[in-house]
Amino acid sequence: MAQLIVALDVPSAGKAEELVDALYELDVIVKVGLEALCGYPERILSYCEARDVRTFVDAKLHDIPRTVGAAVAQLVRPGVHIINVHALGGLEMMQAAVESAAGRAGELGIEPPRILAVTLLTSIAPEDLNELGLQGGPGENAIRLAALARDAGCAGVVCSAQEAGDLKRFFGDDFLTLTPGIRPIGSAHGDQKRVTTPAQAVAAGADYLVVGRPIVEAADPLAAAKAILEEMSVRA
Ligand code: C5P
Repeated sequence: MAQLIVALDVPSAGKAEELVDALYELDVIVKVGLEALCGYPERILSYCEARDVRTFVDAKLHDIPRTVGAAVAQLVRPGVHIINVHALGGLEMMQAAVESAAGRAGELGIEPPRILAVTLLTSIAPEDLNELGLQGGPGENAIRLAALARDAGCAGVVCSAQEAGDLKRFFGDDFLTLTPGIRPIGSAHGDQKRVTTPAQAVAAGADYLVVGRPIVEAADPLAAAKAILEEMSVRA
């Protein structure tokens, strides 16, 4: 069963906590991304930990292996369910993240968070790849980077739902796919270029669907999240 992750992309800890409370009854995972990690990391992570709300720490780590391993060790704590890194950081960097997560979780006596690797950002359009020096289309790049992530021991990848089906076929059902760029029918795309509806993402085999603005900017975030959960339960 695919799970919904709501991105707490808001400028203050108070607003993020309000969202956690508003969505509490749905038992969704919340995403603590760069805005929260740069602005109020300890407050929101301890708020979620205290309420048993699972988190996806969307740190998108990309640095030398030692630095990434050390950063992952700092992030591991009860309730942190997923941490991500950029696959473009390379095999050794991803291995350092996986080993560090397991090591630190062992010290704390908790389940290690899943390390997922970002293949390509969903805001990258096919025509941007050439400019970045990456050969081939988004699909080919996603497969190549996912193979590297799998070899490094990552639990899966962050990718566009448009690639999730192929990734499942290549790497098997147990290799997890987490897909941002989700837009319910009729909602604004914003800066996302490769978008998919909730039902299409589930049909493609996505394990986790990340939704930010369509919920966070809704007049009633709880109702918006419920509508998306409903769309996720309907086949595309
Ligand atoms: O508001 P929206 O639904 O576009 O939010 C998507 C969230 O997922 C943002 O927090 C963004 O940083 C994150 N994300 C993404 N593309 C990726 C990885 C993460 O949009 N490849």
